[in-house]
Amino acid sequence: EISLKEQLYEILALTCSFYEHALRQPTGQAALEYAVHKRGLDQATIQQFQIGYAPAGWQVLYRYLVEQKGYPASLVEQAGLIVPRNQGDGYYDRFRDRLVIPIHDPQGRVVGFGSRTLTNEEPKYLNSPETPLFSKGKLLFGLDKARHSIAKQDQAIVVEGYFDVIALHRAGITQAVATLGTALSKEQVRQLLRYLDSKQVILNFDADKAGEKAAQRAIGEVADLAYSGDVQLRILTIPQGKDPDEFLQQHSAQDYLNLVTAAPLWLDWQIQGLLDTHDLSQADQFQDVTHKITALLGKLPSATLRSHYIHRCAELLGQGDTRLTLRLEESL
Ligand code: UTP
Ligand code: MN
Ligand code: MN
Ligand code: MN
Ligand code: MN
Repeated sequence: EISLKEQLYEILALTCSFYEHALRQPTGQAALEYAVHKRGLDQATIQQFQIGYAPAGWQVLYRYLVEQKGYPASLVEQAGLIVPRNQGDGYYDRFRDRLVIPIHDPQGRVVGFGSRTLTNEEPKYLNSPETPLFSKGKLLFGLDKARHSIAKQDQAIVVEGYFDVIALHRAGITQAVATLGTALSKEQVRQLLRYLDSKQVILNFDADKAGEKAAQRAIGEVADLAYSGDVQLRILTIPQGKDPDEFLQQHSAQDYLNLVTAAPLWLDWQIQGLLDTHDLSQADQFQDVTHKITALLGKLPSATLRSHYIHRCAELLGQGDTRLTLRLEESL
């Protein structure tokens, strides 16, 4: 008697091969061209990441898995691959006419798929729903391929997108993983910490409003780990271009690694963000920033670090003299 999960693994592995094969068929030609010409992927990368094509048509995968292979439709539905019709009975394929990117668990088993439209349809990315094997907030895309490198480099880089991971790995920066359209959960950070000695996690979300918000949310999620020093979280924001994939189309791997080296610690990043968005010559804004910085520093358990930041912040606020230093110290 094989378990539900084992049956789902089997269906997902078979589906992954089906999609890979479909990319090589005449009907997959547009998808292959998109992968090669629009995304600049070579054959080795397509194979390494097992990129495939979900055919157009409502029941292509359904017919293969249910009618040809004899899997019960209810199991294929639980794998997240087919969706019951609203009216009447029957199912339709979740992924249709999309480039598909399999998502693996850390052991390398396929647990779900991400997929991108080839024609600017909405949504741009459609992912597997939550299933017994697939949980967005827990999985990290690429961890199966990155974990040895994360341990060896003693560093993990977390990015937003599938194509960011793929581009980084192609550039030899193989310690990169991606969240699946979510911020970055404590559980995900804990997973990464298993491979890390010095706890270095670099968060490199897109250099746009959404990316900045996601970085803020991630810091909130892992705040207690960050404050206690259980993760050394640094925030990388790419100066030109929006995401690592775009950056690496114009810059070298070394250029990227230089950005990694220069990335500020999360607390410095937050302080700098406050300074950048307030006009310190306005009394009310000056006070606002002082309050917010005080709130940030107040949670630092280490007196040494607190003192370090108090002095730095007093300087940054243009008040290197002792008055503000004292004020900050008092209010903590
Ligand atoms: P982005 O929109 O930044 O993706 O979303 P991208 O990879 O840079 O897009 P292109 O292909 O280069 O234009 C980052 C990640 O957020 C999730 C996906 O996991 C994606 O890789 N996402 C994004 C979704 O789940 N759904 C969406 O509609 C968009
Ligand atoms: Mn983005
Ligand atoms: Mn992006
Ligand atoms: Mn992109
Ligand atoms: Mn310092």
